Amino acid sequence: MRHLIDILDLSVHEISDLVRTACEMAMQPSSFADLCRGVQMATLFFEPSTRTRLSFESAMLSLGGQVLGFQDAASSSSSKGESVADTVRVVSGYVDLIVMRHFKEGAPRVASGISLVPVINAGDGGHHHPTQTLTDILTIHREKGRLAGLTVGLCGDLQFGRTVHSLISALSRYENNRFVLISPGELRIPGYIIDHLNQSCIPYHETDNLQEVMPDLDILYMTRVQRERFFNEADYIRLKDTFVLDRSKLANAKKDLSILHPLPRVNEISRNVDDDPRACYFRQAVNGKYIRMALILMLLAAARNDT
Ligand code: NCD
Repeated sequence: MRHLIDILDLSVHEISDLVRTACEMAMQPSSFADLCRGVQMATLFFEPSTRTRLSFESAMLSLGGQVLGFQDAASSSSSKGESVADTVRVVSGYVDLIVMRHFKEGAPRVASGISLVPVINAGDGGHHHPTQTLTDILTIHREKGRLAGLTVGLCGDLQFGRTVHSLISALSRYENNRFVLISPGELRIPGYIIDHLNQSCIPYHETDNLQEVMPDLDILYMTRVQRERFFNEADYIRLKDTFVLDRSKLANAKKDLSILHPLPRVNEISRNVDDDPRACYFRQAVNGKYIRMALILMLLAAARNDT
């Protein structure tokens, strides 16, 4: 059974296929309207979400399928003490595909070992978020026309920001990308990712000074400080506004910089940046629907071939 738990579960070739299909979907969504007739997808969200859950649901509805699920742990039997394993065993008997977000790192991996149908990780704790990365990759492809030879700045909470972890993992597989890791000292990227960059001889630079590196960047990927992963509110308050991107800070940026953000935004991008043509984050959110449509089709086709 094929699942998507880590972005590395997909080859570079498969990612290109998904990007191609998603671009076709964006041009002509009506041609795909019936491909999932009679198919059901469950969204099991043990943590809050707007874009990820709704874009998955919209993706399945646009393919002609149906969706069911829950949007918080409190309204599921996990509040009575049911394990993820039991929930998934049961739900996989009802549907053709499961999309799961969980606050515990590794929960979707556990689910994939039990499920009778494909499981998609829609974010596990501070670990990974592969479908956000597919969204980001589609956005970079559509905005820049390439996925290689880019200087990619990742700014904000690099310790707990799962989207950053998956994106580095994905972009590391393309030629000549380099990473500029911009964070406060206390929110630096985890050591296992630094080890991976070192072992793969991928150039990177860690800094806490966004202004200094701005002129070098082709992509600036902003992230919020992940309040829900902090042990202590005082630390969150101290760190939350370390980086606030506004128009004045873009003065020395490239003319063709692409500014991405997985959203939700808190304060890290000022509203006055939204009208700048370099701001891609709302287009990025739309891309999330098309790439998820493509992913749903790919996993369902793989599941059909398995049986
Ligand atoms: C991200 C997430 O859930 O990790 N949001 C999203 O899926 N678009 C980023 C975040 O919550 O900061």
